[in-house]
Amino acid sequence: MAKVAVLGYGTVGSGIVEVINTNQELIAKRVGCPVEVKYILDLRDFPGDPYENLVVHDVDVIMNDPEVEIVCEAMGGTGAAYAFTKAALSKGKSVCTSNKALVAEYGTELIELAKANKCNYLFEASCGGGIPIIRPLRTSLSPEKIVAIKGILNGTTNYILTRMEQEGADFDSVLKDAQALGYAEANPEADVEGHDACRKIAILSSLGFGKTVYYKDVYTEGITKIAMEDFAYMKQLKATIKLLGMSREVDGEYFAMVAPFVLTRENPLYNVDDVMNAILVTGNTLGDTMYYGAGAGKLPTASAVVSDVLECVLHKGIHLSSNWAPEKLALADAALAEWKFFVRVPKADEAKIQQTFGEVKMLESVKDGEAAFVTPVMSEKVYKEKAASLDVISMIRMEG
Ligand code: HSE
Repeated sequence: MAKVAVLGYGTVGSGIVEVINTNQELIAKRVGCPVEVKYILDLRDFPGDPYENLVVHDVDVIMNDPEVEIVCEAMGGTGAAYAFTKAALSKGKSVCTSNKALVAEYGTELIELAKANKCNYLFEASCGGGIPIIRPLRTSLSPEKIVAIKGILNGTTNYILTRMEQEGADFDSVLKDAQALGYAEANPEADVEGHDACRKIAILSSLGFGKTVYYKDVYTEGITKIAMEDFAYMKQLKATIKLLGMSREVDGEYFAMVAPFVLTRENPLYNVDDVMNAILVTGNTLGDTMYYGAGAGKLPTASAVVSDVLECVLHKGIHLSSNWAPEKLALADAALAEWKFFVRVPKADEAKIQQTFGEVKMLESVKDGEAAFVTPVMSEKVYKEKAASLDVISMIRMEG
């Protein structure tokens, strides 16, 4: 019998209990013993809940119980979750989490602590919700030098952009729907301003490139400035707009960024809609592989946490190594990355466009009083120097 404690009985925590109980029999078969939730830690009581008798309010009950081998941290945040994770790992209890904020902030330290205590700090659910991506990076792709990771890493923003494009829906009402469906973070600013995707690309890049990528070093832009007019122009470009988290190596330099990008139909990420996430990983000998699935939501996220629980049961007393080393990965200045740029300017600036940018692709204006075009490939630094002479309404980078 493997006994588990779940910290936090919110959306993900209650999902973890549900997955373990729904699939009790097949889980027992797969790991060779029953897996049982012994405690649920929460400040609240849950009268009438089928698992109300498992609820405790004192974390020490869990920490001091030698029967509890695995702790699922579903509290979120970097306060108590950090303290409780450290306490559990120090006692040799493995911790499985969906908490990308904690993994991105303290992952290096917590992995090292797990290593020192012959247990594991696993976080499959931290990136891409239910998509298996952390384990493939840790195991299946281990012979590869990873050269690029590009992903739609936030379900809430993908859901919002998809509905804006398909229904002409307005941003605020779609965000409310995403919150009601349990996709959004407690503070949805983390989703719409790109902070959530930023933490995820930092985690994936740390595993992929083998050194710690600090999320604070990753240039990040959200989707709040994307307008209906932008989508109207996309029809002419046979393209769409997606929030991407991406990192890549170019001639020995590493770039990482989160921003909305224009993706044309040829891009494998073009058709990833609604709450779905996808991650395109490029290895030096393997080429491209893509991972697709539900990027947010109670049960997909919980299923990924439980997959880590089963890894821990199967590897009791063994620390599972990963490529994520404590050394910091220095990121190159994002302004040196090269793209094409989709730009909207006031009609009054139209005469200056070609003079400034050279051979551009002009688009048919969808709004009175403005002009829109796509630049040739250039670094962002050069783009900004040129764009300074125009009164730019909006700019979106183009991928690929
Ligand atoms: N708020 C996150 C998202 C939840 O929308 O993707 C999953 O990490």
